[in-house]
Amino acid sequence: MKKKLLGALLSVAMVATLLVGCGGSSAPATEEAPATEEAAAEEEAPAEEASADATTYKIGVAIYQFDDNFMTLYRNEIESYFASLETDTVKYEVTTVDGKNDMATQTDQIRTFITQGMDAIICNLVQTSSAEVIIDEVVAANIPLILINREPLGDNGDESYAGILDNPSVCYVGADARQSGTFQGEIVLGLENKGDINGDGKVSYVMIVGDPENPDAQYRTEYSIKALNDAGVETECLVEQVGNWATDKGQEIAATALSQHGDAVEVIFCNNDGMALGAAAAIEAAGRTVGEDIYLLGVDALEECQQMVSEGTMTGTVLNDHIGQSHKAVDVTIEALNGNAIDNYYWVDYVMIK
Ligand code: GAL
Repeated sequence: MKKKLLGALLSVAMVATLLVGCGGSSAPATEEAPATEEAAAEEEAPAEEASADATTYKIGVAIYQFDDNFMTLYRNEIESYFASLETDTVKYEVTTVDGKNDMATQTDQIRTFITQGMDAIICNLVQTSSAEVIIDEVVAANIPLILINREPLGDNGDESYAGILDNPSVCYVGADARQSGTFQGEIVLGLENKGDINGDGKVSYVMIVGDPENPDAQYRTEYSIKALNDAGVETECLVEQVGNWATDKGQEIAATALSQHGDAVEVIFCNNDGMALGAAAAIEAAGRTVGEDIYLLGVDALEECQQMVSEGTMTGTVLNDHIGQSHKAVDVTIEALNGNAIDNYYWVDYVMIK
């Protein structure tokens, strides 16, 4: 990754000609490079110093789906944080692509990143079950790989995924979803009636699941209820359905559950706030009132949900720290670009919001 040295040795014209398409090329990169203000400024600047001293790192960022509230905040923060770290001598050319929730599309995008000579790849997998293929190809191309948000699990269902542990240039940056599930359960435990509104000795709930293949969804579903049960609270699952993290699906599932089970529904757990926003609309349409005759929980702490929690139209949510996670992912990427050793796992804490 010490291409900067090479750049310093070559004349501006040679650099531009020789390093087109390579990673870590000296700026200005190519005519196709994004027309940023800096790029424009550099073209006007006295040629020698500006381009001989600047190193441009090309970073490929693959997001599972742009149409996702939380991942939109996350990817925007990756881009703006990289931009904030640029200096006169180090530039980051970030290319972010939309996997459209399709693994074949994402695999193609990663292959394109490899042929484009990306210096590092940040990947939010569409399917964690495809982690091995992606890791193998990126490692074979000698490119550091920073996996984010969707954790490939080891055989024991824990953080010991061989493809990550065996490769010093691969890591996962994320939050331990068990913690977010536990916090959801603890918010309910903190209520005076512990979620048992009708006093029948058990908490009857609806669980709106993000995506059954995703550990965040699996752990949140399991650990929210586990927290209640571990505290001796009996639970009854009325409905458990997949809402794919989406608001419209959350609304649909909650509306159907409320019309089928009526007042029996005491708590609606949503694996994320996107779906909780939909459930909130269904609760209102069904003439129910959060905090009085029903409780509603989400995860992410989207701004509108934090507002709802403070107004009482949502019982609680859990901050999924997109700023902490994106900054960690970028910081680790830069460590790898600088040739420094990186860990295999980096964890960012969730925070309870009630
Ligand atoms: C979760 C987040 C969801 C969704 C999902 C995508 O961590 O809570 O809202 O963005 O990641 O994998």
